[in-house]
Amino acid sequence: MENPFEKVEKLLAEIIAESPKTLEEVEQFRIKYIGSKGIVKGIFGAIKTVENQRKKEYGQLVNKVKTTAEEKVESLKMAFSKAEKKINIEDLTAPAYTQEIGTRHPINLVKNEILDIFKRIGFTVEEGPEIEDDWHNFTALNLPENHPARDMQDTFYVDFEKDILLRTHTSSAQIRVMQNQEPPIRIITPGRVFRNETISARAHCTFHQVEGLFIAEKVSFADLKQTLYYFAKEMFGSENIRMRPSYFPFTEPSAEIDVACFICDQKGCAVCKQAGWVEIGGCGMVDPNVLENCNIDSEKYTGFAFGMGIERITMLKYGINDLRLFFENDKRFLAQF
Ligand code: DAH
Repeated sequence: MENPFEKVEKLLAEIIAESPKTLEEVEQFRIKYIGSKGIVKGIFGAIKTVENQRKKEYGQLVNKVKTTAEEKVESLKMAFSKAEKKINIEDLTAPAYTQEIGTRHPINLVKNEILDIFKRIGFTVEEGPEIEDDWHNFTALNLPENHPARDMQDTFYVDFEKDILLRTHTSSAQIRVMQNQEPPIRIITPGRVFRNETISARAHCTFHQVEGLFIAEKVSFADLKQTLYYFAKEMFGSENIRMRPSYFPFTEPSAEIDVACFICDQKGCAVCKQAGWVEIGGCGMVDPNVLENCNIDSEKYTGFAFGMGIERITMLKYGINDLRLFFENDKRFLAQF
C-alpha cells in the first residue's frame, strides 16, 4: 500500500501543476481539492492510518497542501475578476493590460505655477497649520474681538472655549512667519482655508488661497503694484489687472485685485457677473499694528501683503464656470488637465 506521506506529496505536486484558465475553472479546482467533499478533506481522514509519533508531521503536511490550494484560488480569482474577462494566459502575444496613470489636480497645477512665478523673484515658500488659534487668525491681524470685520468670515470653530478654529484665510501664516523671522521677509504661503458658506457655483466651505508677504526697509505701494503686474503677466500672459480701493483690517491702504475676464474677453459673462472683471484677491500695505504685534519695528520696516484665491485663478485660466467641479473628483473632469 502507498505510504500516506507519499500520497500527500503527490497531491501537492498535482495542485501546483494545475492551471485553471477561467473563473469557472478556478471554481472547479476549488471544489475538487478544498470543497467540503474535496480530496484534501479525504486525505486528512487518512491520519488514522499514520503511526502516533508521526501524526503531527502528517497534519502539518496536509495543512500545507490546503493553504497552497487556497492561495492559488484567491490569487487566480483576483487576477481573473480584475480583468473582468477571460485571460488567455497561454497567449503570450496578447497585448499587456495598461496601467492607468493619474493626473495632477488642476488646483495643484495652478498652485505650483503660482509658487514658481513668485520663486523666480526671490519669494520662498512657507506653510502654516490649517487648525489655528484665534490670535493668529484674527487678533494679531488687527481684528480684535468684537471687531465688525470678523463678520466678513463665518468661522468653523473646533473648540469655541479655547478659541481653536479652522483658519479662514492664509493670512494667519504671515503672522507665524513674522514672529519667527527677521526682516527682510519675502514669502509666499499656499494652503487650504475654511468658511461656513453655502456651496454654490461661486462659493465653497473649503477652498485654497495663496498669501504673499514682503517686509523690508522702504517697501512701497509701487512695489506691490509692480509685483502684481509681474504675476499677471506670467500667469495670464497679460498685465490687464486693476486695483480697487477696499478695506482689510490688516492692511492700510487696502485694495482688491481684479483680473480682466478672459472667459468672455470682457464682454460680460456668468463668471464675471457681466462686469468684465473677476476679483482674485485682496492686498495692501501691512498695517503697522500687525508688524508691532509680531515685534517688528514699524518705524523701520514697511511691507506689502496680498491674498489670492487659487480656485478663482484656475477658473479664469481654464475657463471653468463652476467651482464645485474641483471638489467632485470626477475623473472625466480631472483627466483634462
Ligand atoms: N485674507 C484676505 C481674505 O481672505 C485676503 C487678503 C487681503 C490677504 C489683503 C492679504 C491682504 O494679505 O493684504 O479675504
